[in-house]
Amino acid sequence: DLTLIHLALSDSVAFHLSIEKHNLRFMTTASSGLSDFPEMEVSVMIDDNSIGFCDGSNKTLKINYDWLKKVLHDDPELSKWFEGECFERQLNGNKVRLSILKDIFKKTEGVHVFQLMSSCYWDEETQRGDGAMRFGYNGEDFIALDLETPKWIALQPQATPMILAWDLNKVRLMKNKMFITQACPDWLKRSLIKGKSILLRTEHPSLSLLQKSPPSPVSCHATGFYPRRALMFWRKDGEEIHENVDHGEILPNDDGTFQMRVYLNISSISPEDWRRYDCVFQLHDKEEIVKLDKAVIRTNRGKPNDVPDTFCVFLLLNLKAVIVMVLFSLTLHL
Ligand SMILES: *[C@@H]1O[C@H](CO)[C@@H](O)[C@H](O)[C@H]1NC(C)=O
Ligand SMILES: *[C@@H]1O[C@H](CO)[C@@H](O)[C@H](O)[C@H]1NC(C)=O
Repeated sequence: DLTLIHLALSDSVAFHLSIEKHNLRFMTTASSGLSDFPEMEVSVMIDDNSIGFCDGSNKTLKINYDWLKKVLHDDPELSKWFEGECFERQLNGNKVRLSILKDIFKKTEGVHVFQLMSSCYWDEETQRGDGAMRFGYNGEDFIALDLETPKWIALQPQATPMILAWDLNKVRLMKNKMFITQACPDWLKRSLIKGKSILLRTEHPSLSLLQKSPPSPVSCHATGFYPRRALMFWRKDGEEIHENVDHGEILPNDDGTFQMRVYLNISSISPEDWRRYDCVFQLHDKEEIVKLDKAVIRTNRGKPNDVPDTFCVFLLLNLKAVIVMVLFSLTLHL
């Protein structure tokens, strides 16, 4: 039941991300009732890159990118830190906690997804770091760590008995705080220096106008951009418009770049007004513009497989990719 698993763990870190701020997250997921998902795994993300994962059944940290394999190979300390974090702190360290969560909910049938997100950021401009730690159940926040005190905060009534016990363990609380506010930002900073050419790169997209078949909406489609913190909108006479405009989600491409679409419903636009509209894509300080023009619109009439729409892309992806995508889109919406 996929609708249950919208993993909407709100991340107080992600939505503050700007170009100077970088984010490292460990997302530990435990589930029951799902056949195609490991019982427990940790995925590691830096900014917009799902860089690797460790799962309970295989004691290797699986790295998704060759550049990172090289970085970790050249820096054994960094490599050791990532492995230690993934297996010891996130996976083994949370086994008991997540199984307690499982027990609380085991009376109910169906799919249960439990998550722990440990997340930190490093701000290149202010040279400061911070972060957050949260538990979630089926996409809703369940318990959060208050870093100031530090203590646990129950975000749902069922969590109260758990945090009373957890709060007694002051050593663990301090360790968590140190991890989020110091170790994690420090190693993120180090990763950014080592993986600079990839993590701090900018790739501009190719922009095109697509239409299924007239008179369906015209979508302005940008693909191949990085990072994902991009803006795209339609303008009329140079002013951004919201009426008759629909924003699609930002989706990851296989090569680590992103794509997105913004639709314009053209049914009420008279042919002579077309030239007043254009679509703008902004990434950092650079702007790309494509004018609404029949001559440049690509349609897939007669070639329906040419341009799969978002729905088909969804169907093609497996569950794990959907989870990653939802997390990505969270960063956008929050
Ligand atoms: C663990 O994963 C690695 C990398 O994917 C693979 O080479 C290895 O064979 C796996 N080991 C086991 C025991 O599944
Ligand atoms: C486009 O706008 C027209 C008129 O406002 C409306 O009837 C139609 O349903 C809209 N089409 C889409 C796909 O939203």
